[in-house]
Amino acid sequence: LILVLDYGSQHSQALTRGIRDLGVYSELHSHRLTIDEIKQINPKAIVLAGGQRSVFDSDRLPINEGIFDLGIPVLAIGYAMHALNELFGGKIEQSDLQEYAQVEVDVAEAAQLFPTAPAKETVWLSKRDKIDTVAPGFAIEATNDSQVVAIRHHDKPIFAIQFYPEVQETTNGQAILKKFLHEICQCDANWSAAYFVEKEIEQIRQTVGDKKVLLALSGGVDSSVVAGLVHKAIGDQLTCIFVDHGLLRKNEGDLVMKTFKDGFNMNIIRVDAEERFLSKLAGVSDPEQKRKIIGNEFIYVFDDEAAKLKDIEFLAQGTIYSDVIESGTEDGKMVKSHHNVGGLPEDMQFKLLEPLKSLFKDEVRAVGIELGLPETLVWRQPFPGPGLGIRVLGEVTKEKLEIVREADAILREEIAGAGLDRHIWQYFAVLPGIQSVGVKNGERTYDHTVGIRAVHSVDGMTSNWAQIPWDVLEKISQRITSEVQNVNRVVYDVTSKPPSTIEWE
Ligand code: XMP
Repeated sequence: LILVLDYGSQHSQALTRGIRDLGVYSELHSHRLTIDEIKQINPKAIVLAGGQRSVFDSDRLPINEGIFDLGIPVLAIGYAMHALNELFGGKIEQSDLQEYAQVEVDVAEAAQLFPTAPAKETVWLSKRDKIDTVAPGFAIEATNDSQVVAIRHHDKPIFAIQFYPEVQETTNGQAILKKFLHEICQCDANWSAAYFVEKEIEQIRQTVGDKKVLLALSGGVDSSVVAGLVHKAIGDQLTCIFVDHGLLRKNEGDLVMKTFKDGFNMNIIRVDAEERFLSKLAGVSDPEQKRKIIGNEFIYVFDDEAAKLKDIEFLAQGTIYSDVIESGTEDGKMVKSHHNVGGLPEDMQFKLLEPLKSLFKDEVRAVGIELGLPETLVWRQPFPGPGLGIRVLGEVTKEKLEIVREADAILREEIAGAGLDRHIWQYFAVLPGIQSVGVKNGERTYDHTVGIRAVHSVDGMTSNWAQIPWDVLEKISQRITSEVQNVNRVVYDVTSKPPSTIEWE
C-alpha cells in the first residue's frame, strides 16, 4: 500500500487514482495522521501530495518528522517539497506568484527518479516560492533555469519534486511515478478489479462466517455492485430489501428484479411503498421538506421489513471512497441536504459491511463488470435518492410523476439512440409546474411544460450544460409533446452549475 497524505491539493485524488492505475494499491489520508496510525496502515512508501499553501503562511501545514525515520521511501510534491527542504535545514525564497506553468526542466546526470538521465522533461509546476538553498545531505535531481525543482537525499530514499506528476501537462508523469513505485519502492503491479474481487470475497467470507447479511438495494451502481460482490461471496446468506418508493424512473424497479432475482437468483424482497410515500408527500412543496420526508420514510419502510427477518447480523452498504473522503471535509455550507435514500438507519443494531469503501467510482464500475453485472446498471447515470420526487417541482402527485416519468423515458431513449448516453454525465426531464397556452388539432390547450436538463460533470460539484445536437432535441421535443399526455411545451435548460444546481430542487 502506498500512503498518500493530503495537503489540500486539488490533485490529491487524481494522484491516488494514478498510483492505482499503475497497479499499486494506494489510499489518501489526512496529513494529520500520527506516526502510530501510519504504522498501523503499514505503507510501503509515503507520498506527500502538495497543496495551495506556502511555507510562509501562518497556517502552514506541518510535515510529521517521524515519517523520515520509518525507513520507507518518501516522495514530497509541490508545497511538501518546500516544507521538507526547510525541515532538513535548507532555505526557501518567498514569492507571491500564484501561477502554474508548463516548463522544461534539465534532469541531472545522476538523477534517480526520472526514466532517463540526463534528459529534458516537460513538467507542470507552481511558481509560488522556490528553493533558495538545498538542504544539506540532498542532491539536485532537476533544475529549470538554474532553479532547483527536484532533490533527493544522499543516503535515504527521500525524493522531493516541485512539479505535479499526476497531471497531463507533465508529459512523463506516469513514467516518473512508475519509476518511484516499481524501482524505488519495489512494489508489484498486481492491483486490478479481478484481484480486488478475489481478495474481497475471501475477506467477506472470513468476516461473515455463517451469519446472515442484509442489504438495501436501490438499483444504483454502488448498492448493485455490493449486492453482486456479497452474493458471490456468501450466496443465500444475503437478503436484499428493495424499497420501491414509487419515485423511480420508468421500468427501473422491474429491471432491478430481473437482474438480481432472475439473473443472479438472489433473495430479494421488493416492497411496493408508492402509496405510503405519496400520502406522506401530499400537500408538501418545500424541496428540503420533501427530501426529509422521503429519506425518513425510506428508513421506516426498511426498518419494518428488516424487523420481519430473523438472525441478521450484518448490514452491507455501498459506501465508496469519495463518501469517506467527502464526509471528512469541514466545509459547513449546505446547498442541498442530499439525503441519500438507502442510508443507514441510525439506531440499527447491525455490524457494518462496506466492501467498496476503498474504491473510486470508476473502480466500482470495473468491479461490477468483473462480477458480470449488466452494462446498463454499471454505467447508470447518477440518480438522486429522492428520485422523481425532486423532479416534480412543488407538490408531488401521481399524475405529475407519470408525466415526468414518461418524458424522461423518451429523453433517455433518444439520448441512447443517438449514442450519447456515455458522453453526457446526467440527463433528465423535470416538471416545473408551469402551465401555458398551446394549440393541438386547431384547439387551444392549457398544459404542462417539460424541462430538459443535460450536464457534463466529473463529480456533480460543478457542471456545464451539455449541448445535445438540435436534431436530437427536436425529436425529443416532438415525441414528448405527442406521446405524453397533457404536455404542450418543452424547454431546454442552458445553465451551468454554478449559478444553478444540477437538479431544479
Ligand atoms: P445538485 O442538484 O446539488 O446535484 O447540483 C448534484 C448531484 O447530486 C445529485 N443529488 C442528489 N443525490 N440525494 C442524492 O442522493 C439528493 O437529495 C440529491 N440532490 C441532488 C444530483 O442528481 C446530481 O447528480
